[in-house]
Amino acid sequence: MTSLHTPTQADGVAWVTGASSGIGEHVAMALAAEGWTVLASARRAESLAALAERAPGPGRIIPVALDITDADGVKAALAPHGPVALAVLNAGTYQPDEAKSLDPTTFARTIDVNLIGTVNCLAAILPGMIDRRRGQVAIVSSVAGYRGLPRSLAYGASKAALNNMAESLKLDVERYGIKVQLVCPGFIKTPLTDKNDFPMPFLMPVEKAAARLVAGLKSHAFQITFPRRFTWPLLLLRRFPDALYFMMVRGTVPK
Ligand SMILES: NC(=O)c1ccc[n+]([C@@H]2O[C@H](COP(=O)([O-])OP(=O)(O)OC[C@H]3O[C@@H](n4cnc5c(N)ncnc54)[C@H](OP(=O)(O)O)[C@@H]3O)[C@@H](O)[C@H]2O)c1
Repeated sequence: MTSLHTPTQADGVAWVTGASSGIGEHVAMALAAEGWTVLASARRAESLAALAERAPGPGRIIPVALDITDADGVKAALAPHGPVALAVLNAGTYQPDEAKSLDPTTFARTIDVNLIGTVNCLAAILPGMIDRRRGQVAIVSSVAGYRGLPRSLAYGASKAALNNMAESLKLDVERYGIKVQLVCPGFIKTPLTDKNDFPMPFLMPVEKAAARLVAGLKSHAFQITFPRRFTWPLLLLRRFPDALYFMMVRGTVPK
């Protein structure tokens, strides 16, 4: 099949969710520096306002505060803006968990933000992209979605679901000229990982991660993953037989 059109600033605005901190904040800045008008979304309006103030030209950042778990609220907040040509659906949450303290409410909250929240965002933009026969959507998942990792019951499940959904979505919407990509970062230094008390191999600075993500948006690859020194071995582990996989990962389970 022919390669899909990668939208440019002439096609509309970019939308970045989870832009009040971490990867999303730096992706929004990088896109503004490339000349995009960026709708920056998260719940913390004051952080988004501060981000808009320091947006690098020639583009600009417009704060659009919203909670991605509120489907109607997402649509209403986006309505005055657009059209959205490029969406980086990055908002997410991570709460380490384990069997002895399994809490269905916390588990459901992770699924609600990471999975259903992403679906709410897709529902707000896909009809317009389908009508216009163009658009680009990058779904930020995680290597935690490849296979089960320790302390990652809810988070891993939410990200595995995103990985699968992104593949299904690509098959569905590429016929409408919409480019779908899946972003699977390894460990990136952000507020989300600052709470981790275990070693994080090849921890990547967030500025570098954002630059890798934005470069990946211009590629024809379905999956954007970094740092490769960490994520490529994990991609290989994904293909290992179960017994071998568990033998190799068991040693990383916290005592
Ligand atoms: N850091 C890593 O090592 C790593 C690795 C793999 C994947 N990821 C993924 O990368 C994405 C960004 O993570 P990060 O590391 O940059 O973490 P972060 O700094 O904690 O950023 C998370 C962002 O999501 C927003 N968010 C959370 N819940 C939301 C909600 N209900 N509605 C709207 N926005 C919400 C937060 O903003 P508000 O609190 O203001 O709403 C914040 O801007 C996540 O999907 C994460 O799973 C991160």
